[in-house]
Amino acid sequence: MHAAHHPDRLTPDAARGEFPILQRRTYLNSCSLGALSRRAETRLGEFLQLWHEMGASAWYEHWLARLDELRTRVAGFWGSQPGAVALLPSVSAALSVVASALEGGATPGAPSAARRRRRVVTTELDFPTLVYQWRVRPEMELVVLPSPDGVRVDPEQFDAAVDERTLCIATSHVFFATGYVQDLPELARIAHDAGAWCVVDGYQGLGQVPLDVTEAGVDVYIAGPLKWMCGGPGLAYLYVRGDRIGRLEPRITSWFAAARQFDFDVHAFEFRADARRFELGTPALPTVHTALGGHEVVAEVGIDAVTARNRLLTEALVEACRDAGLELSLPAEPKRSAIVMVRHADPAGAVRHLAAHDVIVDHRPGHVRISPHFYNTPEEVRRCVELLAGV
Ligand SMILES: Cc1ncc(COP(=O)(O)O)c(C=O)c1O
Repeated sequence: MHAAHHPDRLTPDAARGEFPILQRRTYLNSCSLGALSRRAETRLGEFLQLWHEMGASAWYEHWLARLDELRTRVAGFWGSQPGAVALLPSVSAALSVVASALEGGATPGAPSAARRRRRVVTTELDFPTLVYQWRVRPEMELVVLPSPDGVRVDPEQFDAAVDERTLCIATSHVFFATGYVQDLPELARIAHDAGAWCVVDGYQGLGQVPLDVTEAGVDVYIAGPLKWMCGGPGLAYLYVRGDRIGRLEPRITSWFAAARQFDFDVHAFEFRADARRFELGTPALPTVHTALGGHEVVAEVGIDAVTARNRLLTEALVEACRDAGLELSLPAEPKRSAIVMVRHADPAGAVRHLAAHDVIVDHRPGHVRISPHFYNTPEEVRRCVELLAGV
């Protein structure tokens, strides 16, 4: 039997032609920065052209609509309403605005008890910027769950740490260094059973693993275009569950968050009713355009095809590493994703050696980190491993 054929779908192999870097390099660092597509470049060119031709008048006729287009596309891709999406300058900024709103009081279950809730449960495998949000709030009790193996943290550990003192779980969808995919519905359940929030840093999730934020049941999910969405640096996407938005009033804000932004009224402030109440000023327009281009390509390939391809590439990578006698810090299936850590005595030296052969990977302490994406081929990952084994 043949797999269902979608005529409007771009196959991963056909998509390679969208990414000029692949002609010159073996590009295996998508978890740092997704490759630039011709589509993103064209969109950026359109932005620059309008800037030349129209100057500020392009705002009303074109650019405000581009912001809406991006919010709507992100919403469609991760399964939320467009009104549940905000555009922020970075994941850190999105986390800061959320942390400031949680500090302000209301918890999902028990608003009156909110002020007594001081505990935030996070893990040592989360990206530091997530943990720092509460490090700079000394009044909070920060619980940093240890990893039993340097690769994963188990839901049972969250369960044991989350109680009626807990304001929120703050953790990742996919751990940035190990690629371990966490069980979001289970984490949301654990948080909600205790009347706490579930805040997720999904920067390594969106675009590389299937995601429906509504089904995941989380309160907050933050991601962005930079990595697996191939959209470049300068923006983040914030989802807040519809019925939670009205309960959150951040302590850092902007005119984009105001209910009547274009009234320019300094005498009163009222938050917008939708998630744009979390926005922090003019989004980076060049990135809005590159993000739309990258998004288009990823969406045309489709997240199911992306995931299937990345599984194939990850399997090829793991097998080649094992054949070459390289040691891996690897999650057990089915928790694996397309971020693979190879143990190495001199990771920085290995990355330089590979770069000299036009193979782009990255390093983290004690490891070379390899992250293929749908546009890569099994031959490319095997070439990378061959070179790495020779170091
Ligand atoms: C999981 C994760 N969260 C956050 C960040 C940092 O995001 P930003 O620089 O947009 O704050 C990164 C990587 O750059 C990341 O991998």
